Amino acid sequence: MFRDILRHVMEPLLFQQNKKKSLHPSLLTDIAKKRTAIKSAIDPFRCVAEELELVERNLMRSIRSSEQILTDISAHLILGGGKRIRPMVTLLAFKVFGGKKIEDIVDIATAIELIHTATLLHDDILDGAEIRRGKESAYKKFGLKATLIAGDFLFIKAFEFAGKFDATVVQWTADACTHLTEGEILQGFFNRKLEVTLEDYLEIVKRKTASLFETGAKVGAYLAGANPSFVEEMGTYALNLGIAFQIIDDVLDVVGHKELLGKPVGMDLRDGNPSLPIILAIREGQSGVAEAFQSDHLTEKMIRTAIETIGRGSAIAKARNFSRSYAEMAFKPVEKLPPSLYRNGLKTLVQLITERDF
Ligand code: FPP
Ligand code: MG
Repeated sequence: MFRDILRHVMEPLLFQQNKKKSLHPSLLTDIAKKRTAIKSAIDPFRCVAEELELVERNLMRSIRSSEQILTDISAHLILGGGKRIRPMVTLLAFKVFGGKKIEDIVDIATAIELIHTATLLHDDILDGAEIRRGKESAYKKFGLKATLIAGDFLFIKAFEFAGKFDATVVQWTADACTHLTEGEILQGFFNRKLEVTLEDYLEIVKRKTASLFETGAKVGAYLAGANPSFVEEMGTYALNLGIAFQIIDDVLDVVGHKELLGKPVGMDLRDGNPSLPIILAIREGQSGVAEAFQSDHLTEKMIRTAIETIGRGSAIAKARNFSRSYAEMAFKPVEKLPPSLYRNGLKTLVQLITERDF
């Protein structure tokens, strides 16, 4: 059963025939090519498959509650897909330094995925998102109040897993959670605000997304006994990976496919979130984008038109270039490590993330 879940985690969406039906044949060929390329490279999922399976077991155990609704909401999101990238980064960073105490790293990787899941429950409330991971969001299905509490429930469960480590690990984990909340507040501050700069954007992304990647990698290296400079290097790797990941998330919100993403496109514009393609398109003076970004009375037609405009201009190519630069910065610290299966896994993960369609 756990292997089945993992398989879904490893190649999310690509094998779901019903979802393929509405996709254009050329896109399917493209995906098939990428899938072959991914399989021929060192697969980061396979490098830590056993440990990820233990994370799944922990997750499953941790969502049990005497209040069925908390279990149902948690299961709805946790068992409903998810790429498990954050635990994977944590596990790879541990294994690449020869870490041996698997129970420990599995527990902290579980905590990180639980924190991430808790933030998604809260994020969907904040964004009013109706769809997540290809199905109704928990917020839509179970309502705001129960979803809010389920987010708190998962957050506390994460604390159970992370709280038993030494003060350094607890502090880094707490710092990441603080950054997540700050990133979300900062993003709210720049909601529909034209004056948002690239620097503001990067600050938001570092905090709301990359900080959890960074912490996972640092903790992984630290618990494996890596020396402090390598622990920092792994943090640099994951911080840049996290930024590249979020940039691609923003790009896919414009040019992605609903069927692959498991959520509608155009959400950032709809919500007034300053995504990188939106900021770049506004800087380019693309007609109608600034107006759409500022407006809190957007119609579906206005969103569609603005999204098409952004997609036609150079903002997407520029955003992909930004993502590639962060990917390059992620590669550098990894190059300093001795060759190993796990080092290759860390490198392949960067490629997968920057070339993903979902
Ligand atoms: C998804 O981003 C959201 C996040 C990465 C962070 C959300 C953080 C909070 C809600 C703060 C709460 C914090 C804790 C510790 C419980 P997105 O909206 O760009 O991505 P999406 O398209 O997947 O929704
Ligand atoms: Mg969101």
